[in-house]
Amino acid sequence: MADPRILFDPVDLGGFALKNRIAMAPMTRSFSPGNVPGEDVAAYYRRRAEGEVGLILSEGVSTNTVTATGTPNVPNIVTDEAKAGWKRVIDEVHGAGGKMGLQLWHEGPFRNPAKSQHPDAPSWSASGIKVPGKALWEPMSEAEIETAITEFVDAAVAAKDLGFDCVEFHGAHSYLIDSFFWDQTNLRTDKWGGGWEGRTRFACEIIRRTRAIAGPGFPLIIRLSQWKQQDFGAKTAATPQEMEQWLAPLVEAGIDIIHMSQRRFWEPTFEGSDLNDAGWAKKLTGKPAISVGSVGLSGEFTAAYSGEASEPASLDRLIEKMERHEFDLIAVGRALLQDPDWAIKIREQRRGDLKTFTKDALATLY
Ligand SMILES: Cc1cc2nc3c(=O)[nH]c(=O)nc-3n(C[C@H](O)[C@H](O)[C@H](O)COP(=O)(O)O)c2cc1C
Repeated sequence: MADPRILFDPVDLGGFALKNRIAMAPMTRSFSPGNVPGEDVAAYYRRRAEGEVGLILSEGVSTNTVTATGTPNVPNIVTDEAKAGWKRVIDEVHGAGGKMGLQLWHEGPFRNPAKSQHPDAPSWSASGIKVPGKALWEPMSEAEIETAITEFVDAAVAAKDLGFDCVEFHGAHSYLIDSFFWDQTNLRTDKWGGGWEGRTRFACEIIRRTRAIAGPGFPLIIRLSQWKQQDFGAKTAATPQEMEQWLAPLVEAGIDIIHMSQRRFWEPTFEGSDLNDAGWAKKLTGKPAISVGSVGLSGEFTAAYSGEASEPASLDRLIEKMERHEFDLIAVGRALLQDPDWAIKIREQRRGDLKTFTKDALATLY
């Protein structure tokens, strides 16, 4: 196995100093009854800080209590009780020497009204489309767009006021922000649709207004994905030129870090280059980028770690990409959900101690 030391080098992302290059990927856990993160959730994040994760990204956190969420027991950042819950989380994480950002989430067209406390509320999205070709609802009105932007900004400012080190806007996976980016779900002909300038405007307004209130020293991350829940093979940007048109307005609006959600980090984005989505984001914008996708999951990987097979290809490839500075951080999801000490075990090369991710881990807060 290649030397994993590069993963543990400190890194400075434009003034945002982190002790290593491992981030915890945002993962919805649905362990917040009443939409309030409790002591168990605080302890869960604290364990990742104790486990030496460089940057913890929270599960998706709802930006309002009505249209934003249909997933039960998802925390919000709106009510006083929820804010108090998040204060406890960040204090615990800081107490263990960690850094953490809240991921701000509006489920948009993927909200499940039947599971929501407000089943009759409208589902918000750019053009009322969940599956391309079929509008299910009215496009968002100008007033609804304004409200949604304000709610994202308020949520980000609330996170900053509570002491979080950064925020991440969830602009991936077909949720509200992403419904504006993708030309299959944004058919608007007004200023919120059309070309890249129109389709990025919703995200840019959120970023610009947050920056204006939060000031320059508070890192703003956006999570994006080429793939969609409706279509894993989709590409929001079909070429590097299109990706540049997608990302440049976000940078101009004030985004600091781009987090490209990919299902397998080693897959190249465009023909003719082995750069992945985060690699392209960094190359095209010069901004720090976070990659993600199946780190520590493959059968070969775990087999190799128990000494039964050849070197673990996925970690070798990750180290190679890190050493080339293709991207700056690697987010780890399921491996860290299973085991809060995953990073320490990788650093200490304790191969035999690594745990295999199983679905049972979803039912508990290890
Ligand atoms: C249980 C679970 C919940 C997730 N919830 C979120 C979420 O709230 N926000 C988000 O952006 N991604 C979410 N994801 C995607 C992860 O952030 C990550 O991109 C994905 O799991 C791939 O990384 P991995 O292969 O290391 O697990 C979730 C993934 C899992 C497994």
